[in-house]
Amino acid sequence: MAESENDLISRTIRFLNQQKEMYGDFSVEFATESQKHETVSEETEVATEAQKHENIEEKIEADTSVSVEEVKTEYQTEEVKPELTEAELIAQCSTLEELKALCEKAETLKTDLEGTNLVFGVGNPNADLMIIGEAPGFNEDKQGEPFVGEAGQLLDKIMAAIHFKRDDIYIANILKHRPPENRDPKVEERANSLPYLLKQIELVDPKLILCVGRVSGTTLLGKDDSLKNMRSKFHEFNGRELMVTYHPAALLRNQQWKRPTWEDVQKLRERYDELGGKP
Ligand code: URA
Ligand code: URA
Repeated sequence: MAESENDLISRTIRFLNQQKEMYGDFSVEFATESQKHETVSEETEVATEAQKHENIEEKIEADTSVSVEEVKTEYQTEEVKPELTEAELIAQCSTLEELKALCEKAETLKTDLEGTNLVFGVGNPNADLMIIGEAPGFNEDKQGEPFVGEAGQLLDKIMAAIHFKRDDIYIANILKHRPPENRDPKVEERANSLPYLLKQIELVDPKLILCVGRVSGTTLLGKDDSLKNMRSKFHEFNGRELMVTYHPAALLRNQQWKRPTWEDVQKLRERYDELGGKP
């Protein structure tokens, strides 16, 4: 048998023993003595178990200057490290950038429409007013930004009427991915997205929240109610004040809701100034 083959066999045996030394006994079957003699030539001295172990320990010490014990500890620490839950990962985020990176990886935020982009949120990360819509539509999905389509343009106009520029405020949605055919977000989808949105609200830390549309209002207030019942007043929400008004897309179809929306946002601006919102 060629010398290199013998080398390979003894190196393999050494490696397996080394593994066994570090990880304990495992399922790799060692060849029986008779099998070994079939494959290893008669002249090759097979080291005794004890010798082999000595050699391995020496080798590890020489190669890496750490003892077998230390190697063991290192591997064990890695093995027992528990996987963090989604809630723990969210809790660990201390910036919007970190939360966005987490959202990029979150399968639970996706709808059954494939290949959508994350629409995380946009605007002033320290805004005192946060606007929360329902879910991204076609244009929002394409651009990865909330409220950029027709409804978004109307939202910008409404905000301008109460002296806010888009850059002054922070805008997000209940869902961070577009649902197929722009259908209503499912209860499960809202529930999956909510922990991320709550963290986003905590990080932006606005004085006021404006929910546009029924989906947004009922999801954050955690109760089913009509838009008519929810609008026009300030609700307490996790130590902040929250108002619900009509969705700009609804205003595009129903002119009669423009007046009450106008009244709501006037009230919102007044409260914003009372609370010392900047600018
Ligand atoms: N409608 C929403 O609710 N959100 C958007 O981002 C766009 C349209
Ligand atoms: N119903 C809704 O769901 N949203 C509106 O904005 C108005 C009515």
